[in-house]
Amino acid sequence: MDLFEYQAKQLFQKFGVPVSLGEVATTPDEAKQIAERIGGVTVVKAQVKIGGRGKAGGVKVAKTPDEAQQHAEAILGMDIKGHTVHRVLVDPGADIKQEYYVSYLLDRSNRTFLAMASAEGGMEIEQLAVERPEALARVPVDASKGVDLATAQDIVAQAKFPADVADKVADVLVKLWDTFVGADATLVEVNPLVLTGSGDVVALDGKVSLDANADFRQPQNAEFEDKSAADPLEAKAKEKHLNYVKLDGQVGIIGNGAGLVMSTLDVVAYAGERHGNVKPANFLDIGGGASAEVMANGLDIILNDPAVRSVFVNVFGGITACDAVANGIVGALNTLGDEANKPLVVRLDGNNVDEGRRILAEYAHPLVTVVGTMDEAADKAAELANAGA
Ligand SMILES: Nc1ncnc2c1ncn2[C@@H]1O[C@H](COP(=O)(O)OP(=O)(O)O)[C@@H](O)[C@H]1O
Ligand SMILES: [Mg+2]
Repeated sequence: MDLFEYQAKQLFQKFGVPVSLGEVATTPDEAKQIAERIGGVTVVKAQVKIGGRGKAGGVKVAKTPDEAQQHAEAILGMDIKGHTVHRVLVDPGADIKQEYYVSYLLDRSNRTFLAMASAEGGMEIEQLAVERPEALARVPVDASKGVDLATAQDIVAQAKFPADVADKVADVLVKLWDTFVGADATLVEVNPLVLTGSGDVVALDGKVSLDANADFRQPQNAEFEDKSAADPLEAKAKEKHLNYVKLDGQVGIIGNGAGLVMSTLDVVAYAGERHGNVKPANFLDIGGGASAEVMANGLDIILNDPAVRSVFVNVFGGITACDAVANGIVGALNTLGDEANKPLVVRLDGNNVDEGRRILAEYAHPLVTVVGTMDEAADKAAELANAGA
């Protein structure tokens, strides 16, 4: 999960990284009030999860609260590279003497963490990395050692920071590492880190990506979630602990096991080429258990997707045998009642398949078709989705 700048800087603040942080506004009036509270020069900053806001006109200096209001008026609702601005951050204006760059990231290709730092900020870092790679220090960080003061001083030396700011930047690097580890991030980036007229080193911008795999031990990270941006079906699936991803097709997919579901998406996409180009409507892996309750939750989500015209349930009975899965489907359809209103194609195979098929045959639900093979079932599901157009 990526954070907004204001959230990133709240996190920095928590770990002692010096920040210049005001307040968030959703209306021009609010922006004016915040600027009044801060006093003096302020900066109105679009809060969207994409870089290059400054260049796009999403960061503007205001000398008075009225000017902050006008800037907020212009920036709210603005489109920055496909991201609509719903909030602005009104920050105290900084007196910038120098701009620097620092970041930590998970370097997957080298199987390590990486510190990057440059005493020459102000330029887009990608551009600097290409045009003057020697100006951007890249220092691998040993995961078990982390960044203590000595390591931070080494990074500062490699990045050729001037001697008079070296200690302050090293201190920021140690605290930024604490943030990186403490929040289970895969990226923390400060661009620019600035030297102010009064000699302070402050983070003016912040970019943070959190590792969702660590959510279980970072319960407070849930507060960072941008609920307004989430797909409502995905949000509902998440509540039910289902592994669901909304796609843009018409054939709903339920399977057990991520690999099986992935290949189901493929066969449905191929079959769709013969049936009006229908496509998979989602990825949904209900996992090994496949109980009636999980099946009902899964079906409920998929049937509530208005784009779905048919559903393909593709289950391979392993530890949970096919008869249990068939009972799950029957239980789910009983639970859903009239809400189950789209054709279902079911393919069962594996452990206890004959008993599973018998249970479904006996149930004889008018919307359920049981098909023998995965390819035939994909073809049937695509045909029904196309017919339901
Ligand atoms: N609080 C601030 N005071 C003064 N200048 C600022 C402030 N925040 C940002 N700026 C200036 O605006 C530029 C762009 O802002 P930044 O937050 O880095 O957005 P982005 O990286 O999306 O363009 C910065 O490099 C800095 O020069
Ligand atoms: Mg920036």
